[in-house]
Amino acid sequence: MLLDNLYILFFLFSFAFIKWLQHLLHRKMHPKIIPLSVNYHFTRKCNYECGFCFHTDTNSYIAPLPDTKAALSLLALAGMKKTNFAGGEPFLYAHHLGELVDYCKDILHLDSVSIVSNGSHIREDWLKQHAHNLDILAVSCDSFDERTNIAIGRGKGTHIAQLYRIANWCRTYGALFKLNSVINRYNWQEDMNSHIAKLDPYRWKCFQVLLVEGENDSEQTKRDARKFTILDEEFEHFCSKHRDNPCFVPESNKLMAKSYLILDEHLRFLDRSGKAPSGSIMEVGVEKALSSVFWDMDGFKERGGIYAWNQDQIEKSKEEAEGQNLAATKRFGLAVGDTCGGSQSGEAVDMEDIGSKKTL
Ligand SMILES: *[C@@H]1O[C@H](CO)[C@@H](O)[C@H](O)[C@H]1NC(C)=O
Ligand SMILES: *[C@@H]1O[C@H](CO)[C@@H](O)[C@H](O)[C@H]1NC(C)=O
Ligand code: SF4
Repeated sequence: MLLDNLYILFFLFSFAFIKWLQHLLHRKMHPKIIPLSVNYHFTRKCNYECGFCFHTDTNSYIAPLPDTKAALSLLALAGMKKTNFAGGEPFLYAHHLGELVDYCKDILHLDSVSIVSNGSHIREDWLKQHAHNLDILAVSCDSFDERTNIAIGRGKGTHIAQLYRIANWCRTYGALFKLNSVINRYNWQEDMNSHIAKLDPYRWKCFQVLLVEGENDSEQTKRDARKFTILDEEFEHFCSKHRDNPCFVPESNKLMAKSYLILDEHLRFLDRSGKAPSGSIMEVGVEKALSSVFWDMDGFKERGGIYAWNQDQIEKSKEEAEGQNLAATKRFGLAVGDTCGGSQSGEAVDMEDIGSKKTL
């Protein structure tokens, strides 16, 4: 009788042990994907028509605030530490944006919350209210000559004054100010040094304008951006002129194209290999949504997307990043453009750069 019981116990234990081993093996082979940082394009709306943007889908759907908050909570539970709000133009929904930024810090306590914007709808009041919960505000500006901005299709000649205001508000209310520029046919010869010195962004990312076959390279495509492209040498010319700015970071598309985890306005992850998006994370959950799309997690790691949670690591990753940027510029002699929710723009999405003002 005793022996029988021992047998049963032994059997049960072995069974549990084998199950456990199987579980370990499975985890090893299918490591759980952690959505450490997420780019949330909560709106596609952008009335603007930058000549080089292929973001022509201007439907104005935006998920209701409670759904969005619930989705962000799910992501935080799944391990998200950083989020970046992009569009479209996020400040077209300034109230919505403010609620989300506050929620991410006050409730979810994310390490880093950032926004990319074209700047035109940013108001002082908004920053006064929310900048304490915002780590980085990235604003795009492609030229310090308003005529060039108008030629590119950006703004009506008031962009630069607005940029200076934003830089000051960031300083006053405590968010890091970052600048993004897309270097193209119209601005590659410009000398931006004096403005950069005055604006003093903590980081200035410069992307080379990029064309994609079938998307924007002919008259048949929705937007023909060929007139914006420049040669690698021309980009290199721009870089060498501006490289001495400590904040200057030329960006190589090759390093990062598919390594962003992008959540769209329907709370679906976008597939970076061209397949359909995942289901909404509110319907299928985070894990399932993540596993159904492709994104380049290795590229993400390589670019330093998973990095630096403490001071030491920050120092190290800064050095590495600098080394990498140098290497990238040398390797390609250029840096190639970036996408903003699919659009080529100064609202370039830039996960690697999402830091936190406390640690930077
Ligand atoms: C920014 O986007 C908004 C909304 O689409 C647009 O009205 C504005 O003119 C744009 N400004 C610049 C400078 O790009
Ligand atoms: C062309 O389209 C691709 C995506 O299809 C985009 O990544 C790129 O930024 C666009 N380039 C320009 C110059 O609009
Ligand atoms: S580049 Fe950005 S601001 Fe310009 S049209 Fe596209 S989404 Fe709008």
